[in-house]
Amino acid sequence: MTTTPITPSLIATLPGRYYTDPDVFRQEQEHVFESLWFCAVRSSDLGRPGAFRTVRVGRESVIITRTRKGDLRAFLNVCRHRGARLCTEESGEIRRTLQCPYHAWTYDLDGRLIAAPNLIKMPDVDRVAYGLIKVELREWLGYAWVCLADEPPSFEDTVVHAAVERLGDAAAIEHYGTDNLALGKRITYDVRANWKLIVENFMECYHCATIHPELTEVLPEFADGYAAQYYVGHGAEFGAAVKGFTVDGSEGFGRLPAVGDDQDRRYYAITVKPAVFVNLVPDHVILHRMFPLAEDRTVVECDWLYAPEVVESGADLSKSVELFHRVNVQDFAACERTQPAMSSRAYRDGGVLVPNEHHIGIFHEWLLERLGGEHAGPVHRR
Ligand code: FES
Ligand code: FE
Repeated sequence: MTTTPITPSLIATLPGRYYTDPDVFRQEQEHVFESLWFCAVRSSDLGRPGAFRTVRVGRESVIITRTRKGDLRAFLNVCRHRGARLCTEESGEIRRTLQCPYHAWTYDLDGRLIAAPNLIKMPDVDRVAYGLIKVELREWLGYAWVCLADEPPSFEDTVVHAAVERLGDAAAIEHYGTDNLALGKRITYDVRANWKLIVENFMECYHCATIHPELTEVLPEFADGYAAQYYVGHGAEFGAAVKGFTVDGSEGFGRLPAVGDDQDRRYYAITVKPAVFVNLVPDHVILHRMFPLAEDRTVVECDWLYAPEVVESGADLSKSVELFHRVNVQDFAACERTQPAMSSRAYRDGGVLVPNEHHIGIFHEWLLERLGGEHAGPVHRR
């Protein structure tokens, strides 16, 4: 078989096996999802003490819960006795204590082992040492971010800085007050594609003219194929006749209070590697979190966040939500269309990136560096 040589101005993508090989996915789980900060849950989803959510992070299941004091804690979802999964539900409420369904070891909301049948006869069991294994947790933008690494990387450098770097101004993201926004709508998408196809798609806008008719109506410059992320600090401007970031360009809601004139009528997009996309428009924030479940399956939870008074008023959010819901459906269909071809011999050496997709090449470099020696360098360069 012969392959067409790629001209020097075009960069090769990763070879197809990076999107299909369970061994590559396992290494990504270890060196990416279990090593970096992972955006797990919207803090307000855990409103009351005892509320919990279980989240898959890499190969681990993590319980995130709110303590009696009101703060959030994260633990590995594994009983310290003989390893039974403690919570099998995705969410719920722990009444007072968390009791293992196997032999009834019982933990409090701070993870301490507080009771175990016949423990009195086993005085050598250290209740602190056999508490649940804590997972590091930070809150930012109104979400709980967790990190499984023994020595987590700096949250400021690897998470906050990503947003600051993209917007070119440390305060810019703060203007949207994302921590205090209310959840207006959440849609969960079960996408039959590798997580990297979803990241790569989000990072470029070369496809916008082809698959996003509604979005390019609202943001005409997207028809030229340059994503808002292509330039540091650049917000894509709404079309002249567009009143709001809605499916038909009709009026949205009032501008969020701290969003200035320079950010008005503009759309900003940020990728926080590895698995979060933040979209900022004057009256709301759309935040995507990806949960990679297999080399060919990724669940994406997308939240539409508005000023609390907008949500409380019962305002009709449908035109506002519909715009990015359509974008999501269009994007994920493109990713699912691509996934099966990743195992084709046509894609054995990968595809190409045109110049306005060059930042995808930077993402690939970042990934290869994380995966370490055996994957770095010549694997994807010809
Ligand atoms: Fe949990 Fe035995 S495995 S109490
Ligand atoms: Fe898209």
